[in-house]
Amino acid sequence: MKLKINGREHEIDADPDTPLAYVLREDLGLKGTKIGCGLEQCGACAVLVDGRVELSCTSPAASFEGREIVTVEGLADTDTGARVQRAFVAAGAAQCGYCTSGLVVAVTALLDGGGKPDRARTAAALTPHLCRCGSHPRVFAAVEMAAEGEA
Ligand code: FES
Ligand code: FES
Repeated sequence: MKLKINGREHEIDADPDTPLAYVLREDLGLKGTKIGCGLEQCGACAVLVDGRVELSCTSPAASFEGREIVTVEGLADTDTGARVQRAFVAAGAAQCGYCTSGLVVAVTALLDGGGKPDRARTAAALTPHLCRCGSHPRVFAAVEMAAEGEA
């Protein structure tokens, strides 16, 4: 199957039913995408697909053919994604870091949606992303920094 990931086409020799997150991590070495629950419950495996946040831990990789996938690694090459990454570092918005790449993906999509999100909009965008370490207060600080262009 052919997948377009971070701007590059990849010919991938894997069972088409393999969930995308496993293909990213095992076939392509893109280990920034985490697998937490594997049940679409925690948000750790989020990637951007055609600019929108999608979970990658259960959907078959073949269902992403013909679509633009961007992982947390690829976000570094985009203005918003790089700004969000810097803001997370500046705000210290991670402890174990397991949820972090999913959150960076979600915040990038939120800011790319335009305008400065208020607290309620940010909370709604981040609700699907569980953080067992309790980093959300610093994640909110990172969102504000990135939205203000301070990072
Ligand atoms: S690993 Fe996909 S939502 Fe938890
Ligand atoms: S920083 Fe550990 S789960 Fe969020």
